[in-house]
Amino acid sequence: MKQHKITTLIATIAALLLSCTTATRQCGNCGPHPVPYPLSTGPDCGDPSYKIRCTGGELWFDSLAGSSYTIKSVDPETRRIIIRPATLDKGACVSSDFHSEGISLNETLPFFIATGNTVFLLNCTISTPHAPPIDCSMSSLCHSYIKDHADTYACERVGTCCAYKTGGPHKEYEVRLRGVGGCAAYLSVVDFNGVVGPQGKGWPEPGVAVEWVAPQEPVCKEPVDCNALLNSKCGVGPTSGGLQRCLCNAGFKWDPTNGLCQGQTQIQSQISSKLKAKFKLKMIIY
Ligand SMILES: *[C@@H]1O[C@H](CO)[C@@H](O)[C@H](O)[C@H]1NC(C)=O
Ligand SMILES: *[C@@H]1O[C@H](CO)[C@@H](O)[C@H](O)[C@H]1NC(C)=O
Repeated sequence: MKQHKITTLIATIAALLLSCTTATRQCGNCGPHPVPYPLSTGPDCGDPSYKIRCTGGELWFDSLAGSSYTIKSVDPETRRIIIRPATLDKGACVSSDFHSEGISLNETLPFFIATGNTVFLLNCTISTPHAPPIDCSMSSLCHSYIKDHADTYACERVGTCCAYKTGGPHKEYEVRLRGVGGCAAYLSVVDFNGVVGPQGKGWPEPGVAVEWVAPQEPVCKEPVDCNALLNSKCGVGPTSGGLQRCLCNAGFKWDPTNGLCQGQTQIQSQISSKLKAKFKLKMIIY
């Protein structure tokens, strides 16, 4: 009897904890990789404007011109996706996505090039291939990167080697390559702290960070579209941009990180009932 009660209580606590963390519209894992809200790998989960692709157990980010990049990691707290950039063609200072003009994002979608990338542009036909500040001097970080990475040897022979950091005053949507009036290759690292250790150690792995805009409530056409989002109703609100959205009911607040309508009072009562449950458990044990 005692044991039965404890089992029931444990099950109740587990259910309470789950109900706290499960986003109703969050997509299932892609292979071993979680897909946090609002990212969407299918029509029935996530927010459809935040489409990424799950193929062969890997997550992919598709660029406008048809090139695709493996997603190395996703951080829902900073809303960043780190993609694996194109490599260089064998023995050439040309990126493998040169023909699709590098990375370009659809500006009407909620993704943009995040702050924190250090991008190197190489083998260019123009002297200033990006808006300032960009460093194309002989002391540019670009030269040290090439020197420290044997697989980029083909770029030692080219004229231009520039470095810039992303995250200027305007949102950027591309790392652009162009045969005429541009560059043929790029390399990128994320969150480089500016310090290269001895023997060229200490460079971060190649990566390009892409950020997503915090999602608004999901768009809806009819009331049933909002069934998946508990405590919401389909309607037009002051911030819904003229679109019908699943707006949270009074007393609940849209939580863009988890894709839930969070009730301030609900959280309180969930916490207090969890505490009560723990107390009961203790009382039964002792
Ligand atoms: C530099 O880029 C051009 C294309 O703009 C390419 O034809 C050339 O081979 C590249 N240089 C090297 C050293 O790979
Ligand atoms: C950009 O995204 C919008 C919204 O999904 C879509 O309608 C448009 O066709 C896309 N543009 C291109 C060039 O793919």
